[in-house]
Amino acid sequence: MDIRNLIEELIEEHQNHIQKMKDFEKRLESDFSEEVLEDILKFLETDIQEHARKEEENLNEEVEGKFPDFDSQAIKFAHDVIDEAIEDLKWEISLNDKKNHDKVIKQIKKIFSMIKDHFLEEENFLFPNVYKEKKEWI
Ligand SMILES: [Fe+2]
Ligand SMILES: [Fe+2]
Repeated sequence: MDIRNLIEELIEEHQNHIQKMKDFEKRLESDFSEEVLEDILKFLETDIQEHARKEEENLNEEVEGKFPDFDSQAIKFAHDVIDEAIEDLKWEISLNDKKNHDKVIKQIKKIFSMIKDHFLEEENFLFPNVYKEKKEWI
């Protein structure tokens, strides 16, 4: 796949995921239920994982060779940090303690903001700068 198309696809996924997180936050405010927690976990464990896998597998060392500014390890590291926060959330949920609701909501909001920050970081700093070449021609 062309690297420029891939990056555009990834950025489009970021926008979809940001919208989903906004919707989940709204649902959480009005309805803290097992169902919404299940949907959030499913989103974190499938959509977000699939997106991360796509980045790690397709933006690999091969790309690193062509774009010297690109650091695939930085992306992998950020994904690992998010994964750890998801594991913590699963632990909080597994306690199934009503008094724990605030902690669960706090952890979900923390994960959502980590993911949003990560998307911004990718778009602004971590993704290979495929547009640089073009700029040099202008
Ligand atoms: Fe990522
Ligand atoms: Fe991403």
